[in-house]
Amino acid sequence: MTATELRTVLDTAHSMRRGEWRGVKPLAGLSLALVFEKASLRTRTTFDVGMYQLGGHAIALSNTEIGLGTRERVSDVARNLERWVDGVMGRVYLQQTLHELADHAAIPVINGLSDMLHPAQLLADYQTIEQEFGPDLRGRRVVYIGDGNNLANSHIHMGILTGTDVTIVTPVGYEPNAGVLMDAVKAGVQVTLTHDLAAVEGADVLYTDVWISMGQEAEADIRRRAFRGYQVTPAMLETIAPHGIFLHCLPAHYGEETVPGATEHPKSRVFDQAENRLHAQKALLYHLMGEMRARW
Ligand code: CP
Ligand code: NVA
Repeated sequence: MTATELRTVLDTAHSMRRGEWRGVKPLAGLSLALVFEKASLRTRTTFDVGMYQLGGHAIALSNTEIGLGTRERVSDVARNLERWVDGVMGRVYLQQTLHELADHAAIPVINGLSDMLHPAQLLADYQTIEQEFGPDLRGRRVVYIGDGNNLANSHIHMGILTGTDVTIVTPVGYEPNAGVLMDAVKAGVQVTLTHDLAAVEGADVLYTDVWISMGQEAEADIRRRAFRGYQVTPAMLETIAPHGIFLHCLPAHYGEETVPGATEHPKSRVFDQAENRLHAQKALLYHLMGEMRARW
């Protein structure tokens, strides 16, 4: 996505949140396949409800049903789906699986989370950040604390697109993806990487995510030890900017990366953020799929 496309999608998302699209059905007759290799509450619900509200239809396909790459080649799944539906949302283990789907289907393929990125989440996150600070986010300090995982990587991409000042605070050995960091270098955008918790001070946005992502359960004990201290608490929220906000993509693993007192803190916007998954993705679907109506 370019910065201009992002601006368009977010403007539409704000307008949808304000209720200005109520009853508008631009995706009437269109279908979206939701392919899940992993569990989901928010992504599953918001893509499904979002398609319904725009007049379209979503069909959720769990991996026990379709056996992506086991029952059938990923490329063949793509070649079949493109004959029936107008878009695919994939929540997958490997980013490569999404590229394989996209390479073999002449319809939009949306990343609903991979091991590397979670861009649909970041759309909702930046909608939430704009609700707080307005559309010009240049120089705003976004501090991500925790695992240098798919969320951290997508934060770096959003820093490139919006001009936010992104800092990633991780324990040693859990830094973000080297290729994504290279994207920032190529774009001439500086991302601060640190292991020092003091970097949280004065943040406009403090963000965290789980220490043990889906698929990493075998490493749980090692990770809990490595991340000790990197927990967002109400006391930590007192050190961010007075106007600062706390975001978390959810689900939360309470007692690990955060505690209930933080997600329920006056500075927390985590449930507004979850609501925005619906608006932001509807906006994305409208801009990606709306034009396909003619084909149908
Ligand atoms: N944040 C997020 O993607 O939630 P789900 O895993 O429940 O979809
Ligand atoms: N990093 C987490 C995000 C869940 C929405 C995971 O990949 O499991």
